[in-house]
Amino acid sequence: MKIVLSKDFEVKVHFVLEDEKLTMLSDAKRDYAKNTLEFKGEKKSVYADLGPGSDNIVVVGLGKYEDLNHDVFRLAANIAAKTLETNKVKEASVIINKYDGYCTRKMTKSYIEGFLQNDYIFDEYLSKKTVKNVETISIIPIEGKDESAELALEETLGIMEGVNLTRKLVNTPSMDMYPEVLAKIAVDELSGLGVEVEVFDKDKIKELGMEAFLAVAEGSEKEPKFIVMKYLPKGEDKPAITLVGKGLTYDSGGYAIKPADGMYTMKADMAGSASVVGAIYALAKNKTENNVIGIIAACENMISGGAYKNGDIIGSMKGTTIDVVNTDAEGRLTLADAIYYAATKVNSSCIIDIATLTGACVVGLGEYTVGAVTNNKDLYKEVKKASKRSGEHLWLFPSFDEMRDLLKADFADLKNSTGRWGGAITAGLFLEHFAEEKPWVHLDIAGPAYSDKGWGYLPKGATGIPVKTLYDFVARKDMPIDEKYHKN
Ligand code: BES
Ligand code: MN
Ligand code: ZN
Repeated sequence: MKIVLSKDFEVKVHFVLEDEKLTMLSDAKRDYAKNTLEFKGEKKSVYADLGPGSDNIVVVGLGKYEDLNHDVFRLAANIAAKTLETNKVKEASVIINKYDGYCTRKMTKSYIEGFLQNDYIFDEYLSKKTVKNVETISIIPIEGKDESAELALEETLGIMEGVNLTRKLVNTPSMDMYPEVLAKIAVDELSGLGVEVEVFDKDKIKELGMEAFLAVAEGSEKEPKFIVMKYLPKGEDKPAITLVGKGLTYDSGGYAIKPADGMYTMKADMAGSASVVGAIYALAKNKTENNVIGIIAACENMISGGAYKNGDIIGSMKGTTIDVVNTDAEGRLTLADAIYYAATKVNSSCIIDIATLTGACVVGLGEYTVGAVTNNKDLYKEVKKASKRSGEHLWLFPSFDEMRDLLKADFADLKNSTGRWGGAITAGLFLEHFAEEKPWVHLDIAGPAYSDKGWGYLPKGATGIPVKTLYDFVARKDMPIDEKYHKN
């Protein structure tokens, strides 16, 4: 689908508030829509008059003015796109209105995103490729063709390319998406955009002392890779926001093996790292101004004669020893070394880690919400604002010293798995230990990163969450984060 500006096509798409007069329809059609079809402009409702002899019009309801937000615009545009697609419309012009309190550029972005969200398909493994009907969507800017619409279009295209790159990385099965491939794609996609990408092999990882990361990787035939991506438009000497992504290209559970049902979607256990690649892609593509570094410890959690076992006591780059209570709590082991690297080896102003870390997070918050743990409420608030603007739900877990105490082990400094209760929080607090008191936020995306059914305007499979939040946070944040460490 191509998006253009100000082109006049025969088919028109309009959006209306609930009970707004349908001035775009003729008197007869207006009566018919209102009285016979009972179309009132409620949220998610559609009136379509398409095909030969029709008025060539689609009207999508936005619901009540009081309930408007950018996700309403995205969803309405997405419903319009789906309606055009099922009716095999090739091209259409979209007319959008101004609403009090909503910035024109941001509204345009949201509508454009809603259309583009319908464009993603993962058909690499299908013998019959999907052909989309809708070819061109023309957005008629609110106040004539102005620069702000062009900027909105360009920025949204960059963001959605990043989101779709993340989706592709996550959807690709682990047989074709293992550490070496992930690293190669990071190099191929980012190098041309002014991002410096370094890939460390097993020897270099050993040299750095990443014993926790290496223990997890031990059971796999695939070599682990440590990937560092630097986009530093402010200069190398200035601090960067560092994004650390969990990069388990497959999580079988190891010797604490997962049942078949739970293992099925574990190709998606690198969704955190894929979101880091996608976000940095979008940030660099759109030439945003802040320094950002991405870090990924990529490996597979498998079984073999050499694999790590329940009851092993392993080391880590920081020197902390860890009792491996459960080989399936592997993400926090790889992240321990990656976060410690972020805190000590690069110039990080703050650290955000993104991980499909715990089933407990999905139990606690459901499938649609990212769970957060933090040591810095100011930093969290900024991430939360970015998530609201992006329409990606986020919620903060509480964390107290009683929970930190649960991580203490008898014969090692820490253990990698505690009792059943509060599993998403204890996992987060395990990571906190390796952030070296840098402002840090942990995002557990185990629920929303991957969906069997898709929801709203998101496709089945990889959703691309939280690329938009990360992009928004890095692109906008110029406020220095208070380095004061809040324990609770
Ligand atoms: N990758 C899983 C978490 C996960 C579960 C992601 C479901 C997406 C959907 C993680 O490595 C894991 O296995 N966590 C364990 C931790 C437990 C052993 C302490 C879990 O959540 O059961
Ligand atoms: Mn696991
Ligand atoms: Zn995992």
